[in-house]
Amino acid sequence: MSGGMWLALRTLSGPGWVRGSSPAVLRRLRDSAVVRPGFLNAEEEETLSRELEPELHRRRYEFDHWDSAIHGFRETEKSRWSEASRAILRRVQETAFGPGQTLLPSVHVLDLEPRGYIKPHVDSIKFCGATIAGLSLLSPSVMRLVHTQEPGEWLELLLEPGSLYILRDSARYDYSHEILRDEESFFGERRVPRSRRISVICRSLPKGMRPGEPGLPPPAC
Ligand code: OGA
Ligand code: MN
Repeated sequence: MSGGMWLALRTLSGPGWVRGSSPAVLRRLRDSAVVRPGFLNAEEEETLSRELEPELHRRRYEFDHWDSAIHGFRETEKSRWSEASRAILRRVQETAFGPGQTLLPSVHVLDLEPRGYIKPHVDSIKFCGATIAGLSLLSPSVMRLVHTQEPGEWLELLLEPGSLYILRDSARYDYSHEILRDEESFFGERRVPRSRRISVICRSLPKGMRPGEPGLPPPAC
């Protein structure tokens, strides 16, 4: 097959970890919904999970808030990290955020148990700025983005352990995002069995909010 032909096919289907309702949607969100598989090496994954496990294990999974976006989860807001983890978080910052963007002072750590999932939602604009960047650990999962005004416009992101995803601008404001529950966890035709998953999420500060200002976000913004 010629190079040009390959390129055409690639544009239709996106890279191997992004699927969309149409080539136009894939093109439109190419820079605002980004997945970087293998962002963490095995040692870095191990560094983060070893540091997080003891803190998470002190908490209990929550299930039964019928109106909440997240089911089967425990979480923490973490602001003190080992030097090895700080190096990883700096790399996330350099990759996902612009030089003019300030991050929320603490990092959101979310632990979904095997039946846990996240319903479609848009992160509150009161508590979170234009960019959300998340590392996935332990289990693969599928994140689905759906346009809030045009439900036929969607994207699926395959999040393997060690991957980084970035949602910014239009993907962050105009699309809801969700993490599919095990029974619905498919990337196209491909079944993606869900087990326990930990995510480590960095967010930019909302416009007009300065670091240290009172009223900073609750967990899960
Ligand atoms: C959230 C959220 C996604 C993830 O906590 O608001 O969408 O990767 N989390 O866990
Ligand atoms: Mn969210």
